[in-house]
Amino acid sequence: MTAKSSPKDAIADRLAEARWRTYELIDPLGDEQLNRVHSPILSPLAWDLGHIANFEELWLVQTVGSREPLHGDLGRFYDAIENPRRDRNELPILRDAELRAYLAEVRERALDVLEEVDIGPDAEDPLLRDGFVYEMLIAHEHQHNETMLQLLQMVDGYELPEAVKSVGGLSPGQAPGEFARRFEYPPVRETPHALPTIRLPGGRYEIGGPATGFAYDNERPRHTVEPAPFEIDALPVSNGEYAAYLDETGIEPPLYWERESGDWVDTARGRREPLDPAGPLVHVSWHEADAFARWAGKRLPSEHEWEAAARAALATEPAAAPLGLPGAGQVWEWTSSDFLAYPGFAAFPYREYSEVFFGDAYKVLRGGCWATHRDDLRPSFRNWDLPERRQIFAGIRCARNAQ
Ligand SMILES: [Fe+2]
Repeated sequence: MTAKSSPKDAIADRLAEARWRTYELIDPLGDEQLNRVHSPILSPLAWDLGHIANFEELWLVQTVGSREPLHGDLGRFYDAIENPRRDRNELPILRDAELRAYLAEVRERALDVLEEVDIGPDAEDPLLRDGFVYEMLIAHEHQHNETMLQLLQMVDGYELPEAVKSVGGLSPGQAPGEFARRFEYPPVRETPHALPTIRLPGGRYEIGGPATGFAYDNERPRHTVEPAPFEIDALPVSNGEYAAYLDETGIEPPLYWERESGDWVDTARGRREPLDPAGPLVHVSWHEADAFARWAGKRLPSEHEWEAAARAALATEPAAAPLGLPGAGQVWEWTSSDFLAYPGFAAFPYREYSEVFFGDAYKVLRGGCWATHRDDLRPSFRNWDLPERRQIFAGIRCARNAQ
């Protein structure tokens, strides 16, 4: 057995694991594929890669380490707010060998800075306290891996690396056996659940991230909500249920669904595989999710209801603990809620993470999907996207007012 690792070693290991997963994702691809634009709503992968490194340089090298950037003001081309996705391939971003060198050099400098700083619970700078800024960077890379996987669904013949199939990933040098022992948990749809719905009496529920430990600003502060009594389905809508709905209504199928000899096949990554009727539906927009719920005589849950149910489910079924809610962890789930600030919200560490997105333009998604790193699955996590978007790995869980 090795000695207990220090918090800094643990951070360095997790930074390495996140980067290893990024490299695994692009390993089967050549430079041409990294530079190709597959969709106006998704960046070329080369932009994501440069942005991952640039965000790390900005926070872990320039801000924390007070070092100069490696490439002058290159960072402005990697600013996600300033550069809409459709324009990103026109920018003078780093590509090919230069891009790979940048990723490696920034990482080397970030690790040098990590050696120098105090990341303890008493650190004066809130960015460093309990390693916040490192947690933010690790989560950022995980989240971009998921965005890259959205694009990779459009790459014909792309095979998912094992690192992604297993939700999480291996650290370099870590044996698969160790990974399984550390991270294995039961596949959720096979987890027996006594009730088809979870019924919650009305009352007061605490939602949001705790005051300490890592959470994004939009998850705070924790506060009390008082939903009316409601029921929420124990599982998200399955492919089979949605296929029956399509047959009955004749509406447009989800992204990547095509008819073949009367059956629905999944064409993501250029495959033509029959859809598993028991598998969770994925790749529907908020509008489609809302329409299905209404058709089913139900409605989408609010995000408050979702989180209250997730926490109640956790209390009764600890096996689901890594996933927040039985059934969650396979698809993101659209909620009826607009992405709004919680009462008492304070932007941290920068306005552009959440605050600029608050309002009625974006809908909140809860849960997490197969492409989400397991470290990012928590009941308070709020994802958001435009209601017409279908590239995100999002499905549907229905709710209704208690009878
Ligand atoms: Fe980003």
